[in-house]
Amino acid sequence: MLFSKTRTLVGLDIGTTSVKAVELTERRGKLTVSGFGQVEVNGDTPQARQSAVDELVQECGLRGRRVVTGISGKNVIVRYLTLPIMREEEMRNALMFEASKYVPFPLEECVLDCQRLEGAVDRAGEGNMTVVLVAARRSQIAEQMTCIEGTSLATDAVDLDVMALGNAFMAATPEGDGQTRVAAIIDIGASKISITVVADGTAWFTRELQSGAGRDMTAAIALRLGVTDEEAEVLKREPGDRASEVTDVVTTVVDDLANELQLSFDWFENQFECRIDRVLLSGGASRLGGLKESLAHALDREVEIFDPFNGLAVDEGVDAALLARSAPRLAIAAGLAARVRKA
Ligand SMILES: Nc1ncnc2c1ncn2[C@@H]1O[C@H](COP(=O)(O)OP(=O)(O)OP(=O)(O)O)[C@@H](O)[C@H]1O
Ligand SMILES: [Mg+2]
Repeated sequence: MLFSKTRTLVGLDIGTTSVKAVELTERRGKLTVSGFGQVEVNGDTPQARQSAVDELVQECGLRGRRVVTGISGKNVIVRYLTLPIMREEEMRNALMFEASKYVPFPLEECVLDCQRLEGAVDRAGEGNMTVVLVAARRSQIAEQMTCIEGTSLATDAVDLDVMALGNAFMAATPEGDGQTRVAAIIDIGASKISITVVADGTAWFTRELQSGAGRDMTAAIALRLGVTDEEAEVLKREPGDRASEVTDVVTTVVDDLANELQLSFDWFENQFECRIDRVLLSGGASRLGGLKESLAHALDREVEIFDPFNGLAVDEGVDAALLARSAPRLAIAAGLAARVRKA
């Protein structure tokens, strides 16, 4: 495909509650949304996820076959290391050799990758370089790929959700002004929160939180208002005249989340001696009423809802209104597909 001017890639985000796909096509350097879709997952089993992927592929009529999917959770680790400057091959050898120091599971059970980072915020110091080391358990990768086997799709690559979030930001932010500011993109899903801090077009910090996401918000409403989880879920999304009650009972969850984010921000800002001046929220739970305002207040900075399709073209035949409404929830899928730029 060396001379192809059109390339297409599908980003497939297999989440706890829903599977999301975004298909991006690159035509002469310009990214276009050429398809998307989302299907709810009924249950927390690999079979449930697999049948949701099946349904998604059949329903949303994706043209592309090549898929990038994302992984996350305790079987995935990201470490930023400072090493003396060395050639790429030496770096790989050194890291493969030393990885056991940084990776909390047996090396023979995982896939490792590393990349040198460069940019204005780099604090590695003279003679040193910053390297990001990624390790993922093979079993986690295999489970993701099983969801794709049996469909018309073929896995092209497996990325990390946190890295996809950074790539989504870069694809939707014009080079120059927007990218020189330091931005934190925070995806609040049902069971996890992914945080990525991007400066200068590079992700310099990533973290995942396992509490404070959508499920915990629902659980707090159910517990404090004495309703079932199903009723709490409805109240959370459409509180109607109980809005202030709902806001009240999720306060503890939101406050804890703000504290965790502040800790990450403090660490980053001390380490890199720069301020995170943009905060962008994505994921289904970013729609919680009043969340944006509460976080803006607690973190004392501008908070926006992230639109991963900002500046991208949309093909005819793609439901642009539905795409716009679903945009924040599609951020990770869009970031996975954004690899089409490097494909
Ligand atoms: N209007 C709304 N207000 C508040 N929360 C909402 C709203 N709509 C959806 N949610 C919540 O968003 C969450 C689902 O979001 P998303 O699809 O991003 O999660 P996921 O990708 O399936 O989960 P994860 O990334 O944690 O695996 C659910 O917890 C759901 O209750
Ligand atoms: Mg998700």
